[in-house]
Amino acid sequence: MSSQIKAPAAQTADGRPADTRAPVGAVPAAGEQPLVEVDHIVKEFRLSGGFRKDGQVVHAVTDVSLDIYRGETLAVVGESGCGKSTLGRLILRLLEPTAGSVRFRGRSLEHIPERELRQTRRQMQIIFQDPYASLNPRMTVCQIIAEPLYTHKVYQTRQETEARVKELMRRVGIRAEYINRYPHQFSGGQRQRIGIARALALNPELIICDEPVSALDVSIQAQILNLLHDLQAEAGLTYLFISHDLSVVRYVSNRVCVMFLGKVCELGDTEDIFQNPLHPYTKFLLEAVPKPNPHLRKEKKALLTGEMPSPVNPPAGCRFHTRCPLAMEICTKEIPATQDFGGRLIVCHQAQRLFKEGWS
Ligand SMILES: Nc1ncnc2c1ncn2[C@@H]1O[C@H](COP(=O)(O)OP(=O)(O)OP(=O)(O)O)[C@@H](O)[C@H]1O
Ligand code: SF4
Ligand SMILES: [Mg+2]
Repeated sequence: MSSQIKAPAAQTADGRPADTRAPVGAVPAAGEQPLVEVDHIVKEFRLSGGFRKDGQVVHAVTDVSLDIYRGETLAVVGESGCGKSTLGRLILRLLEPTAGSVRFRGRSLEHIPERELRQTRRQMQIIFQDPYASLNPRMTVCQIIAEPLYTHKVYQTRQETEARVKELMRRVGIRAEYINRYPHQFSGGQRQRIGIARALALNPELIICDEPVSALDVSIQAQILNLLHDLQAEAGLTYLFISHDLSVVRYVSNRVCVMFLGKVCELGDTEDIFQNPLHPYTKFLLEAVPKPNPHLRKEKKALLTGEMPSPVNPPAGCRFHTRCPLAMEICTKEIPATQDFGGRLIVCHQAQRLFKEGWS
């Protein structure tokens, strides 16, 4: 399969890595049973260490609800610190939620026996941003990829395990004879392939891709995105794709969830959101993506005011109100409800008007 991965030279005019393929999944049909259901999840970190910080609470994720459907790529976007990685870790239950719950295949991950949780964890894996930091430099590729196989006692013999490791290496485009090499002997892109092989070892259903290409050169980014695309097409994988790079998100995801300061602002079909952003924060984020053609910049812009608020002391009402060009009195006091317009979720006091009239 690696032979199918073309090496693009650079970015396209709109900034995405060249030669990336269209998303595999489809926007979910009405009534479809989600693979993952995130229900009003909250994560607060209580700070300690130093009298100025002691007892302060970071509101990393606040009351987030969303569904992830089988075979789709749901992207989560937003500025640094808005809670994307925390949300991913809550879904994997690498973090205990402060409140709320996650259901996987309809089964709540709360209060389930440890053995069952371990089985469920096999179905959910993660790929990290920095493939070098996430691979133990003292372990060989074989040991790295085999680790989950040993932990879950998948095979009886070393030979069987090694055969599986080699198969995984070939699947991600790494030559099997490199099985005894160490991470530093590979390039950044190859290391990310090793990370992907490790994530695939247990045949998961869901992979959380946490900024999987942000640390890579643009030419390598497209190769890794195409690999993720092909693996999804082959194995029907479901991705939660965390990124701050909107040009990449547009070309890999079926749906997008936009977050600001721990909360969801807007969620919907990727092309709908990119062509017609409705929440003021989404509008701002998309305006911030550099446009190749200056003549396309004439439309009305959502200009932000004020500083980025702190997650330790988030604004009351709508968390975006201190920066929003459309803020009204009610926005400073009341938390906006999520309004659903046929699968397009908008969390704003002006959602009805924006949905009807857009930004005209
Ligand atoms: N273990 C922790 N202890 C205290 N605060 C934390 C912890 N983990 C995350 N945070 C804080 O929670 C907030 C959300 O962090 P998170 O890493 O989820 O953001 P992010 O959207 O993934 O950011 P980035 O794009 O930079 O990766 C940030 O303010 C972060 O500093
Ligand atoms: S609720 Fe108010 S402050 Fe928040 S995004 Fe909507 S208009 Fe702006
Ligand atoms: Mg992160």
